[in-house]
Amino acid sequence: MTEKLYPPQHVAIILDGNGRWAKQRGLPRLLGHKAGSDNIHRVAGLFANYGVKYLTLYMFSTENWNRPEGEVNGLLKLLAEKIDSETQTFHKANIKLKHLGKLDGLSPQLRQKIKVATELTKNNTGLILCLAFDYGGRDEIVEAVQRLISDGVSPMGIDETRFSQYLFSSDIPDPDLIIRTGGEMRLSNFLLWQAAYSELYFTPVLWPDFGPKEIEDAFLDYRQRQRRFGRL
Ligand code: IPE
Ligand code: IPE
Ligand code: MG
Repeated sequence: MTEKLYPPQHVAIILDGNGRWAKQRGLPRLLGHKAGSDNIHRVAGLFANYGVKYLTLYMFSTENWNRPEGEVNGLLKLLAEKIDSETQTFHKANIKLKHLGKLDGLSPQLRQKIKVATELTKNNTGLILCLAFDYGGRDEIVEAVQRLISDGVSPMGIDETRFSQYLFSSDIPDPDLIIRTGGEMRLSNFLLWQAAYSELYFTPVLWPDFGPKEIEDAFLDYRQRQRRFGRL
């Protein structure tokens, strides 16, 4: 790297392409998910080294429940294993873990693991790593509306700031840069509210192969963008 890259404050990534990565190698899809989950630690460290403050990883959507049962169970198992094996490492690296998404569809054991990991790391001051798991942007918006109503907030009491406070992401800023691996150019229900002015970057590289070179390319591209937020 020749010049200093001024990193975005919040990078959010749609981790796509695990299945195709496995298929290219003649392996079962779950081994692609395993390779993908092994890449999380490496990538989080790289972003932390760049000085990125928030990294959000989209790992399982509310629509991914519609996949075959074996794949869904495999993904849930991988998440549980990852939390078990990595939480201490993240903690030692001063990383604060956060979960974005629904909890009620997850098993009590998995919910407990998420609770323990977020509790343990809650005072850490380094990278804030948000794992979007059983996350859907539409679901997040509907749940926010439900909670506003049940809190008795009057229609006139709702504005954009208030509404944002009811989202899963209430304590994190909107993403500056959203990266999607795997070549598809869509959001697939990711951060629909928060992405209003995010820069979008798509790469054909499959998630298990996403590494330092791809991060540098994404940052170089981001640096060329002129963010106007509707102004001139
Ligand atoms: C992303 O990889 C992980 C999840 C969506 C859970 P995919 O499983 O979507 O991989 P492809 O898109 O089939 O290659
Ligand atoms: C998006 O990937 C969801 C996650 C990466 C968690 P998908 O593979 O589910 O998206 P589609 O179905 O191609 O839009
Ligand atoms: Mg996919």
